[in-house]
Amino acid sequence: MNEKAALLLVEDEQVQRESLAGYLRRQGHTVSVAAEASKALHLLQAEPVDIVLSDFKMPGLNGIQLLEKVKEFNPEIAVVLMTAYGTIADAVKAMRLGAWDYLTKPIDLDELDIILGRALSLRRLMNENRLLKEQFGEKYQFNNIITADPVMEEVLNLSARSARSKASILIQGPSGTGKELMARAIHAASDRTNKPMITVNCAAITESLLESELFGHEKGSFTGAVGRKNGRVEEANGGTLFIDEVGDIPLSMQVKLLRFLQFGEFQRVGSNQVQHVDVRLISATNRNLLAMIEEGRYREDFYYRLNVINIQVPGLAARKRDIPILANHFIKKSARENHRDIDGLSRAAQDALLRYPFPGNVRELENMMERAVILARGNLIGLEELPFRPGPSPAAVLSTDENQTLSAQVEYFERELIRQALEQSRNNQSAAARRLGLNERNLRYKLQKYNLK
Ligand SMILES: Nc1ncnc2c1ncn2[C@@H]1O[C@H](COP(=O)(O)OP(=O)(O)OP(=O)(O)O)[C@@H](O)[C@H]1O
Ligand SMILES: [Mg+2]
Repeated sequence: MNEKAALLLVEDEQVQRESLAGYLRRQGHTVSVAAEASKALHLLQAEPVDIVLSDFKMPGLNGIQLLEKVKEFNPEIAVVLMTAYGTIADAVKAMRLGAWDYLTKPIDLDELDIILGRALSLRRLMNENRLLKEQFGEKYQFNNIITADPVMEEVLNLSARSARSKASILIQGPSGTGKELMARAIHAASDRTNKPMITVNCAAITESLLESELFGHEKGSFTGAVGRKNGRVEEANGGTLFIDEVGDIPLSMQVKLLRFLQFGEFQRVGSNQVQHVDVRLISATNRNLLAMIEEGRYREDFYYRLNVINIQVPGLAARKRDIPILANHFIKKSARENHRDIDGLSRAAQDALLRYPFPGNVRELENMMERAVILARGNLIGLEELPFRPGPSPAAVLSTDENQTLSAQVEYFERELIRQALEQSRNNQSAAARRLGLNERNLRYKLQKYNLK
């Protein structure tokens, strides 16, 4: 067999485990071993595995139970079960639950080779298929980015012009404004479009794992580093590395990334061998990095490396005329996905969208329209389907109540905005605070003051 796999062998019987592992290693596979299912599940999280080869009867979870857990963790991993007590019933059950194949002991090594070979070629096909889909199926271009706003058009212009250079781009803007969409469009318009864009989200990865995620690690370089792992920068070689939430990178990692940006050099964790790759960097954040530099929480030299070209994506509040065309775009998209026949917004709904200070950004608008499409009874989205209360608009409040003092009207206005923000964040106080640009303590104080829950 010529294809080499990362195998995880689960077998409670030591002699069998060692002889089988030895055979598989001699075939050129990478083999990790576990004497029981719980250890195997642990290993799965720590290293890449193509195929799990597991005994059926073991103390703890049996082979079928392990199979279910593996499929839950990653359905693409092929599971091959081995048993000394081969009964048809077990085999059928295992296959039904998604086992790749089934072997009876004593293991026939030729049969094992054939089964592993087939599992590997299928896996390779699936991978190629996915890559092709990612590259061509959903092609991101600038015309995926919908806008009718002159400032945004300027931004798109700048992005299109910068796409073909190798210069680092920093995309900034409030949450949910389309920064990631912009990054994909830039990559798609660059001459690297046939190579992957690899994303690393710094907010989603703990500080201690970020380095190994980016640069990879050698076997045994830290607890849990069972096998060698390639870093994301290697996967991005020739293509684009997209560092999302780059404002969340801890200072210590900024130093290491700075070196990478300056020289294209890095070392795997636990290795002192210096490696080179060729990547184009795009990063994004909704944080104010200059303020963070001021507070000593961000490195200035790193910031300037990231920010060779700066792209600012404005929030929806700053481009109100995008609201109706984006709303209609999302309605069409979601109507298509949900097989609904819906033409767009009613006049009243469109007015309401424009009149209310819309507290969210494009993502919230997208969610709101999707919900409206699902709720809609007719073929227009009406006011009833939007989460606005049919109360007076804030503007109406200001102009009608001439007898009210200024501060009473301001308070009413403030209460209204807070109430809306809470509603739109489904009563999640920290999300509401973020929308309003308040800290949570301040929001809690105001909730008490206005007697809002
Ligand atoms: N101009 C646009 N045209 C069409 N769709 C858009 C546009 N802007 C944003 N979207 C859509 O809105 C959603 C949010 O966009 P995206 O994830 O790119 O935002 P983001 O700025 O990266 O958000 P965050 O700061 O939370 O990471 C996505 O589904 C995206 O496709
Ligand atoms: Mg994003």
